[in-house]
Amino acid sequence: MLIRPDVAIVGAGPVGLAIAWRCAQRGLRVVVHDPAPGSGASHVAAGMLSPVAEAYFGEHELTGLLAESAARWPAFAAELTEVAGTDVGYRTGGTLVVGLTADDLAEARRLWSYQQGLGLSITPLRPSALRDREPALAPRVRGGAFAPGDHQVDPRRLVAALCAAAERAGAVLRPAPVARLSDVDARFTVVAAGCGAAALTGLPVRPVKGQVLRLRAPGGGAPGFRHVVRGYADGESIYLVPRDSGEVVVGATVEERTDTEVTAGAVLRLLRAAVDLVPELAEYDLVEASAGLRPGTPDNAPIIGPLPGRPGVLVATGHHRHGIVLTPVTADLVTELIATGEPDPLLAPFTPDRFVPEEEPGWN
Ligand code: GLY
Repeated sequence: MLIRPDVAIVGAGPVGLAIAWRCAQRGLRVVVHDPAPGSGASHVAAGMLSPVAEAYFGEHELTGLLAESAARWPAFAAELTEVAGTDVGYRTGGTLVVGLTADDLAEARRLWSYQQGLGLSITPLRPSALRDREPALAPRVRGGAFAPGDHQVDPRRLVAALCAAAERAGAVLRPAPVARLSDVDARFTVVAAGCGAAALTGLPVRPVKGQVLRLRAPGGGAPGFRHVVRGYADGESIYLVPRDSGEVVVGATVEERTDTEVTAGAVLRLLRAAVDLVPELAEYDLVEASAGLRPGTPDNAPIIGPLPGRPGVLVATGHHRHGIVLTPVTADLVTELIATGEPDPLLAPFTPDRFVPEEEPGWN
């Protein structure tokens, strides 16, 4: 006879898998439903852990949650690496935020001033100091700043490690889709299905398309630059994430679209901006062009907590551009809520009850 699980999780991206791992560590019986673990937004994600460079105007509460989760990343990465026995690509070299032209630099400076006003650690650099830190930057780059606390992880390695850790802790992965929540029988159901959460819950989660490129350094070596580089190049917002493996992730478009086609125009814009900032990238191999759908919400903040009117159903979605950095804190908050019934005060701004379901979801 099948034993009813304590927790059923719909969605095996980093958030769903980390919740599964944490819940299984607490001795709960956990099942994770997903026909293709790690095939959603995380498959395309660059893996920047950027609580400072992604602190945007008017998003105070989200900025606080990003900082809280970033602070949990060192211990999370260390524990996961040990349990899974694989390197997740967690690197702590910091991030350079740059502007190519005078206009680009002015735009970047506005944001640094705001971030510094919040007490976040971002330090403008003289051009000579910028080039000392990262000689591969183009001489045309007008200026930049260093965010020492903004790091990176490799999302594909992260998913593989979380699958292993969750299974080792006793969670069961079921490679099957869930069309309706009523098809799931468990004490608690956690909807961590990214954009798919909208159809299951009626919450206003919408797809936000991102196109991303993967380049590889020639000759099998490491990239010729070591920091995450992000900023503006002739008005184009861009990031470059170098990995020890030789891979460089170049991203990303932000489009209100629901398809995952790769367009020539996006590839052109991303490559032009990338090469403008780091000219040696013109010599790299272009190994992948892909597109994914971020789960966006009306206020750009995630939706985490109990679903109103549905006892036993919790939601962990809407992480938009921050799914990877927010993975540890989301997993901790949801697990604590399930295990104790007590919501952490950190959850208050992010609970689903700030939205009214838009349409009748597929509950029945
Ligand atoms: N966090 C990076 C992106 O959404 O493109």
